[in-house]
Amino acid sequence: MKNYKYGIFIDDEKLENIYKRKFLSVMNDFGYKDFENFYRDIIFQKDSKLIEKIIEIITVNETYFFRENYQFDALIKYVIPELDKIGPKNESINILSAPCSTGEEVYSIAIYLFEEKNFIQKRDFLLLGVDIDKQAIEKAKKGIYSERSIHKLSRNIVNKYFIKKGGFYQVKDILKNAVNFKVINVLDKYAMKKLGKFDVIFSRNMLIYFDENNKREAINNFYNILKPNGFLFLGHAETIPKDIKLFKKEKLGEAFVYRKV
Ligand SMILES: C[S@@+](CC[C@H](N)C(=O)[O-])C[C@H]1O[C@@H](n2cnc3c(N)ncnc32)[C@H](O)[C@@H]1O
Repeated sequence: MKNYKYGIFIDDEKLENIYKRKFLSVMNDFGYKDFENFYRDIIFQKDSKLIEKIIEIITVNETYFFRENYQFDALIKYVIPELDKIGPKNESINILSAPCSTGEEVYSIAIYLFEEKNFIQKRDFLLLGVDIDKQAIEKAKKGIYSERSIHKLSRNIVNKYFIKKGGFYQVKDILKNAVNFKVINVLDKYAMKKLGKFDVIFSRNMLIYFDENNKREAINNFYNILKPNGFLFLGHAETIPKDIKLFKKEKLGEAFVYRKV
């Protein structure tokens, strides 16, 4: 099953072993009797509620606070100081997380910035998280997380930035007020352009699910909304194809980053 608009590709094996049961249940909920009509309506995006549901069940939303945090270390130690030095002091430093899933990545960046008081006190930051999955974005906006999501955080950080409610952890207002979230398909170049220009983009653990064409399309969209010399962080299993000459790869501490040329 392939849908170019959303970058969704499911091979037959996964369709049979992982998604069949879920699809049958959605078919049933939406009153479809046969798979062909159901499949056609997904491909031709006949019903936006159906598309939302399909996106919800096939997207992999796995994420947690401080995931691959050597990249946040590089952000604080190398990237922000450089942006602070070269960028106009009256402009905000804009950071995009695309995709942000349920928000942990964006809140993690906010925590890192708050912990490095040097910058937060003298510069404005814009932190935006986008994802195609509406349910995930709603969860991000609520900012309520399970123990599993926060397992990498120290007790000190948890106490400082979260309020414990029953078995869950609610982000404090200081974090909530520092971030924004939006439902966006990264393959929609017009919607992406409308987001504005960014100094840093984190796009981690999404491109691995895209086919080659969609991966290139997404990278191109990131290029278009990055400011000159802007920074692109990818997940550890993701790379930019060698023939794309729009970025140069740099090592910053433990992390690799792609820099717009
Ligand atoms: C595994 S999560 C990664 C979250 C976070 N960046 C991290 O590394 O922890 C992948 C996310 O990509 C989102 N996604 C998949 N296709 C997308 C698209 N075309 N546009 C925006 N988000 C998409 C999914 O909804 C899912 O939440």
